[in-house]
Amino acid sequence: PHLTEILNLYDFEAVASQILTKETYAFYSCAADDEISYRENHNAFHRIWLRPRVMRDVTHIDISTKILGYHSSFPLFISPTALGKLAHPLGEVVLTRAAHSHGIIQMVPNFASCSFDELTSARKEGQIQFFQLYINKNRDVTKKVVQAAQEKGCKAIFVTVDVPGLGNREKDARMKYVGALPDNQKGNDLELNRGASRLFSSLMDPSLNWNDIKWLRSITSLPIVIKGIQTSEDAILAAEYGCDGIMLSNHGGRQLDFAPSAIEILPEVIKSLKRLGLLDKVEVYIDGGIRRGTDIFKALALGAKAVGIGRPLLYAMSSYGQAGVERALQILKDEFETAMRLSGANTIADICPNMVDIRSLSNH
Ligand code: FNR
Repeated sequence: PHLTEILNLYDFEAVASQILTKETYAFYSCAADDEISYRENHNAFHRIWLRPRVMRDVTHIDISTKILGYHSSFPLFISPTALGKLAHPLGEVVLTRAAHSHGIIQMVPNFASCSFDELTSARKEGQIQFFQLYINKNRDVTKKVVQAAQEKGCKAIFVTVDVPGLGNREKDARMKYVGALPDNQKGNDLELNRGASRLFSSLMDPSLNWNDIKWLRSITSLPIVIKGIQTSEDAILAAEYGCDGIMLSNHGGRQLDFAPSAIEILPEVIKSLKRLGLLDKVEVYIDGGIRRGTDIFKALALGAKAVGIGRPLLYAMSSYGQAGVERALQILKDEFETAMRLSGANTIADICPNMVDIRSLSNH
């Protein structure tokens, strides 16, 4: 279909599933075990209802916000996704360009298929990038990577902590992967023959623990955000360990099946942080299953500062390149603005907890 016939984010997946190789579609779409968490990420939003206010003069809607103090035209950023060259020959640079045209922030993945220099050089004047880090078994490697991120002007480190080992992703495991990795990220032959995801597992460190956050704090002055928090206990620890932000995420359902969706734990996390007076120290973000403007609205009403999005942009990029990603972002912006207008919120600050009804959110 022509891009103008694409009306929502699901349409992109329908196209991508037709045109991507089956290996790539398996790698992008897969999730752990029975993919219950993957589906729950999106389904949980269906259990949150809105409480729209009327008669509020919604002529002028401003959807812009700040993330870690940096301007963003929209409370959404691009979550890091590895192996962008499977979607498009230019790889993650396409996302960098689309992020610029929309004035939003991109998280540069540690395991991007473009080189780090390519991705930071693709940045335009004033554009903001954050860097997503996997802490390597070899801490010297990590130290260099973090310093490079800082030197090349990335404005925050999002350290992913939900991969002490790889989740069981069966769609991907059935595939023999041949592909688009930079030389420094090629695993051994055995790993190559067990799906794209397996390539990375050998680089990650199962010994990761809270002391590593102290260490990370000692080697960089950049804000540190922990990506992959899944309980209020760990959200509190992250704040106590001096992080600047917490990203609730179950890695798009790709790690531990039956891990809760971020939106479901968000109210409890916000409540716990508030009770301990920690909420003014950290910003809270979520990702997983964001597909509609109302999903973003609900997350903000429940206390998230911004949300991240992963797969839909990969599908948009596979099908229509940069123009596709730009359209996907525009669709989300339009949907979000509509949600604000019809709920009676003129600015992000107007979006508050009493605009949502979460009585049926908890289903266990
Ligand atoms: C990811 N994700 C991810 N996260 C991360 O911290 N580092 C990474 O390298 C990757 N790689 C990656 C590849 C692919 C193909 C997917 C789909 C996901 C997780 C990602 O950042 C994000 O948490 C989820 O994708 C969000 O869920 P949705 O928006 O895809 O539903």
